[in-house]
Amino acid sequence: MVNSIDSDLLIVGSGLAGLRAAIQAAKVAPHIKIAVISKLQVMRSHSVSAEGGTAAVLYPEDGDTIESHVYDTVKGSDFLGDQDVIEKLVSEMPSEVYQLEHWGMPWSRREDGRIGQRNFGGYSFPRATFAQDKVGFYEMQTLYDTCQKFDNIEFYNEWFVTSIIHDGQRFCGITAIEMSSGTFYTFKAKALIIATGGAGRVYSFSTYALASTPDGLDMAYRAGMALKDMEFVQFHPTGILPSGILITEGARGEGGYLLNNKGERFMKKYAPSKLELASRDVVSRAMITEINEGHGFKHDTGVDCMKLDLRHLGKELIIRKLPAIREISLKFSGIDPADEPIDVRPVCHYMMGGLHTNIDGATEIQGIWAAGEAACNSVHGANRLGANSTAECLVWGKITGELAAKYILDGKPSVPFPLHLVANEEKRIYDGIFRGTGSVNPYEVRQTLTEIMNNKAYVFRNENDLVDGLKLIRELKQKTWKHVDDRAKEYNTNFTNVMELDSMFRVAEVILMGAIWRKESRGAHARTDYPDRDDKNFLTHTLVYYDTKEPVIKTHPVTITKYKPVERKY
Ligand code: FUM
Repeated sequence: MVNSIDSDLLIVGSGLAGLRAAIQAAKVAPHIKIAVISKLQVMRSHSVSAEGGTAAVLYPEDGDTIESHVYDTVKGSDFLGDQDVIEKLVSEMPSEVYQLEHWGMPWSRREDGRIGQRNFGGYSFPRATFAQDKVGFYEMQTLYDTCQKFDNIEFYNEWFVTSIIHDGQRFCGITAIEMSSGTFYTFKAKALIIATGGAGRVYSFSTYALASTPDGLDMAYRAGMALKDMEFVQFHPTGILPSGILITEGARGEGGYLLNNKGERFMKKYAPSKLELASRDVVSRAMITEINEGHGFKHDTGVDCMKLDLRHLGKELIIRKLPAIREISLKFSGIDPADEPIDVRPVCHYMMGGLHTNIDGATEIQGIWAAGEAACNSVHGANRLGANSTAECLVWGKITGELAAKYILDGKPSVPFPLHLVANEEKRIYDGIFRGTGSVNPYEVRQTLTEIMNNKAYVFRNENDLVDGLKLIRELKQKTWKHVDDRAKEYNTNFTNVMELDSMFRVAEVILMGAIWRKESRGAHARTDYPDRDDKNFLTHTLVYYDTKEPVIKTHPVTITKYKPVERKY
């Protein structure tokens, strides 16, 4: 008999989107039971690592406009962003900044005392609202504090969710393992919000927390929901060497610049008007082009890189506005950016793709919503602008929390719980993985998988590499890695690591298949064999559905309201 917990609303994931959703649902429906379930402790969610800013139009009196933020985002998306969704993000954001302020967010201040904003890539106005360079940490703390005010939000920390149960049309519940005891549970509920974040740990050089694996995306995919636009992976220009930890775009927003081995600010060749503050895809391509042309540097580890120079900003400004990246540089590469340039290289930072939703975050199954990086409501299209991600988490956390709470209050009759699906899941997990046998070390397999992704689907891609990458991933999947050496029940991280790896295989396959299918260059997806954007054939979203034989690719139209696609220049 499987242990069971009853709730009304389940929120899987405890980052910015999950917490914002919980607060909104609790406000709208103070008497429903809300369970926030996370495989981590809340303040270890990857959202705490967001550094540079949250985009919003705060100062129309100084010349900023909603329309300008909308257009910058549409252009940044290389015209693949759904324009109605972008309008929603931009129009909802100013009030979210003030809402956080009222909940205690310590935004940095301008000299006149008002909330501070800095320049970020691809924007026509300094609208990245910041709190030093620890924006995510302070936002998380603000939201987590606020959650404590509500008696109907319960946290289930260190629970690993394994599957979503529905009857083909409507949500019924989930299955999960309580990691401290190793006990398998079902949660029965009326609504679910998936807020499990991105999956950037399918790459080895990555800014993501080690926990950012695709288990959340994968459980939705296995449950029949589509993954959308997964070929669009963002490579942030400035991952510090050797670790890949993020050096915020705010460093360039405050005036830092990139240099090649001739001492040139090479961005003037690639983006004459925006220079280092062009959109991320443009800057990352410029860096790799410079490296390929022999204008890069060699890091001590043998890896090619470029230099990010902040020395001219002065120690006082760096300590006041960029203390976290100074600490990261000192601790992780032994460099004080006030004295020496930093070694940086494009690094996997964000997935534009995710679980297919509509403008309100609703998925294809009634009673299930998705928010934040796990979702693809198509707000970022082919390339996200910096500072629009924390913004997205807040806006769609609020929207989905509100809609899910109202759906529960509407009191739809509950759905009979399909117990056979729980039995199938138990079998998949315990017979297929926990008691699986094998001779190959799953940690080595994980390392190999992430290196394949790094080598075959990086900033520049081509058919040969992508096809080869897919072949290598599929061969690796056939190896006997599915076994768990540690048979303990309590805190068996060996077991959860192998479950994470299981999800990484399926999602890496989807990324590669989408990248092979998209025979054009758009935003972050740059194909050397198809260097141009092809609006005639590829101005469309991709949807990939799970199938036991081979994933199925479909397309989905892009919503264009005002702005017809034009050539993108910075
Ligand atoms: O560079 C950064 O601070 C990253 C921000 C973002 O990805 O939005």
